[in-house]
Order: sequence, then structure tokens, then C-alpha cells
Amino acid sequence: MAKRKTKYVCQECGYETPKWMGKCPGCHNWNTFVEEVEASSSSSRHTFQTQPGTKSKPEKITAIHSEEEPRVTTKMPEFNRVLGGGIVPGSLVLIGGDPGIGKSTLLLQVSSQLARKQMNVLYISGEESARQTKLRADRLGVTSDNLYVLAETNLLDISNQIEQLNPSFVVIDSIQTIYREEVTSAPGSVSQVRECTSELMRIAKSKGIPIFIVGHVTKEGSIAGPRLLEHMVDAVLYFEGERHHTFRILRGVKNRFGSTNEMGIFEMKEEGLREVKNPSEIFLEERSQGAAGSTVVASMEGSRPVLVEIQALISPTSFGNPRRMATGIDHNRVPLLMAVLEKRVGLMLQNQDAYVKVAGGVKLDEPAIDLAVAVSIASSFRDQVSRPDDVLIGEVGLTGEVRRVARIDQRVQEAAKLGFQRAIIPAKNLDGWSTPNNIEIIGVNTVQEALKVTLGGN
Ligand SMILES: Nc1ncnc2c1ncn2[C@@H]1O[C@H](COP(=O)(O)OP(=O)(O)OP(=O)(O)O)[C@@H](O)[C@H]1O
Ligand SMILES: [Mg+2]
Repeated sequence: MAKRKTKYVCQECGYETPKWMGKCPGCHNWNTFVEEVEASSSSSRHTFQTQPGTKSKPEKITAIHSEEEPRVTTKMPEFNRVLGGGIVPGSLVLIGGDPGIGKSTLLLQVSSQLARKQMNVLYISGEESARQTKLRADRLGVTSDNLYVLAETNLLDISNQIEQLNPSFVVIDSIQTIYREEVTSAPGSVSQVRECTSELMRIAKSKGIPIFIVGHVTKEGSIAGPRLLEHMVDAVLYFEGERHHTFRILRGVKNRFGSTNEMGIFEMKEEGLREVKNPSEIFLEERSQGAAGSTVVASMEGSRPVLVEIQALISPTSFGNPRRMATGIDHNRVPLLMAVLEKRVGLMLQNQDAYVKVAGGVKLDEPAIDLAVAVSIASSFRDQVSRPDDVLIGEVGLTGEVRRVARIDQRVQEAAKLGFQRAIIPAKNLDGWSTPNNIEIIGVNTVQEALKVTLGGN
């Protein structure tokens, strides 16, 4: 009997080696190699080809038809926006998220809305039986004769069913449970995930069916399986939120048919996910007005401004090294801004613990929030309260200068709409901008100036 050949494959990047290794030379991660049996027949390679027999020829770009394909829209504008205006026919979209965050719920609701539009929808669950899916559907109030449920994990059977039913929308929940028989490794391994995705890609492209696949997320927060999965699909969306909050955020991280960084906000309710139309109001709802260490920032999330509270707590260190903790913002920004406050403003922060938090479980990752973080820290340290109707916008440089930010008018308008009285913004942003008259605008050049305006004193 021929000896079975095995190889070791890195589960992060797909690097292959005949011997086990502790550290992957490809992506430098530790303990990522898993033994897999090599597929015996060399013919399996051929079946993965996208379209056997067809050879493509170079064409003049001017001669190619570029009709914008009509997008399919759902009744959830938040969902449509994250996709760049709706579902593109023939696209393959990956939705990743922590366990239990609501991926199946979201896709079942989307499926039901499409089914109500007289589209045939096939929801394939590899994790739950058809009855379990039905139970969820009952809870969500999903009923439609055009929605089909299939509990199946074998990709060949799945593709046969797709062939037979010829649906206009397919959901695969989840890619980690689907397998191809020709590939010997276990479902969820790099080879399985890669091969199954490429087959689904072929089905989507050749039949023009949009396919949404659910992907699990590893402890580090990336989609389990190789990074190259993200390269293969047309769009990657992350569904995130804090377990203890009911808010869920759908974020685009890659999109071949629209801008990324769009964000859709939902609220998880007993009867399913509900859209949040005015996120700023919700994020500011529980704000404790008049408390030291709290400020409000107008941050851009994709093309939309949202107002979010930033809280800081500064307290003396009890033992040894001071702690610096940040939730919802890049934790490296906190020590950096504290160093700027120390050096440029003269606040003695080196023996203080600092905890900075974005309220409501949102994550903000743009530099325009710097000024609000810095003022929150100073406000908590000095125990001085800033006015609750101030909104702060600006990036802070290492010399303590407040730098220009993009889309200042949209941010300020959103603040004015919510009743804020003063916007403290970078002075540079005032050039060539006719400021609105429903809100007072104060331009500042340095952090020190901003502190003077908001907290008073020097
Ligand atoms: N009866 C219920 N009432 C209210 N909320 C519920 C109820 N049942 C489930 N949920 C919510 O739905 C969430 C589970 O959603 P769902 O199964 O869609 O998540 P998922 O991301 O698909 O999870 P998995 O990774 O396990 O597939 C729960 O975390 C809970 O918040
Ligand atoms: Mg699920």
C-alpha cells in the first residue's frame, strides 16, 4: 500500500512544509501548523479551474461593456449602505463575527426580506438543523414560501441543490463547516476553506447568484482560516459589538463594489435585529452630563458622522508602573497623548493610572478623536468639568498642535443638529469655510488653547 503523504500547513497564511515547525516562516506566527493529508490524485487540481476549456483573450478596454449591474436592495438601508448600495449579482461576500453576535440572525432577516421580493432564497446551514433554523425564523417572524432551508455540509450536494433550485440568493452558514470530499483534511482547515470558497466563487460568478458566507472569527479577531480567504471574496464585512451591549455594528473592511469603512448600526432585540437610524442620539443617551473626564467627539464612520462620548479616568498609581488602558480606541494613542499633555501642557501624569473608554461599545479609529481624548484626560486629572454642550474635533500632533481633519462641515452639522452649542475645531479648518450660524465655532491651534477654552484656567 502506498504510504499516505502528509504535509504541514500554516492555518494563518497557508504556508506548506513537509516538516512540522513551531514558527511559520511565512507569517511569523507561532503554533499555526496543522498536519494535512495530501490529495492523492493529481486530477483534483483541474476541477478547481474556474472555467475549463475557455481561454480568455486580451480585449481593448474601450470595447468592454461596462453596464452597471442593477443591485438588489433590502429593506434595511444600513445593510445596503455597507455593501455600497445593495447586493451585486454574482458577488461573493464574507461576513465574519464573534460567536453568538448575530450573524445567522442578520442573514436570515436579509434572506426573508429578499424572499418577500419574490426571489428564491436558499439558506444553507451547516451548523444547525432545519428545525433549529425554523425556530429562529419563528422568533424573527420570518415566513415566506420563497425561502428554502437546507441543512447540508457536503459542497457537492450543496452545488447540486443550487443547480436544481436555481435561487437568486444563497447563504452559507458557515464556511468552516462545509467540506469537499476530494480534500482530505478536516472541515475548517485551510485547504478545505480555500477549496470550498473557490468553488463557491465559481458558482457565484458563473450563475450570477450573490452568495453570502459566514466565517468564524479567531480569538485574535481575524476570520478563522487563511488570510487569503479575504483576498478571494468580493467583500468582507465584520459584524461586531460588545457582548454586554445590544448594539451591533456591521462594518465593511473590503469591498470591490463600494467604499469600505461604511458602518451600519443595529440593535439586537428579542424579535431580531433592528436598524438604528440616528446612532448619535443613542450613543449619547446615557451620558452623565457635568462629570469630569467626559467629552463628546464627532467622528466619521464611513460617510456618516456620529457623536460619541469619550470618558477618561485618571487616578494616582498605587504600585510601581502606571496602567494605561483603552477601550474602543487604539491603546497606543493614550500614552502618546498623555506624553503630549505632560510635555506641552505641563500636566504631571507620569505617576497616574489612565483608563480611557469610548462609551456605548463603539470602536473609533481615526485621528480626529485625539483632541477629545486629550481634553477628557486633562479634565479627569484636574477634576474640572467641560461644558456638556461642547463637541471636540481635531488631530493632535507631537508638538501639541491641533491638526486639520477631513469633512469638518459634516461633523459640525451633526453636532448642531443634536443641539450642541460650541464646536472646538482645528483653526486650520476655518480657512475657506463659511461657518454655520446655528453653532458657535472656536478654532484652536494647540491643545493648550483647547484646554483653556473647555476647562478654563491655563
Ligand atoms: N430568545 C431570544 N431573545 C432575545 N435574543 C435572542 C434570543 N435568542 C437568541 N438571541 C440573540 O441572538 C444571538 C445569537 O444570534 P445568532 O445565532 O444569529 O449568532 P451567530 O453569530 O450566528 O452565532 P454562531 O457563531 O453561534 O453561529 C444571541 O447572542 C442573542 O443575543
Ligand atoms: Mg450562526
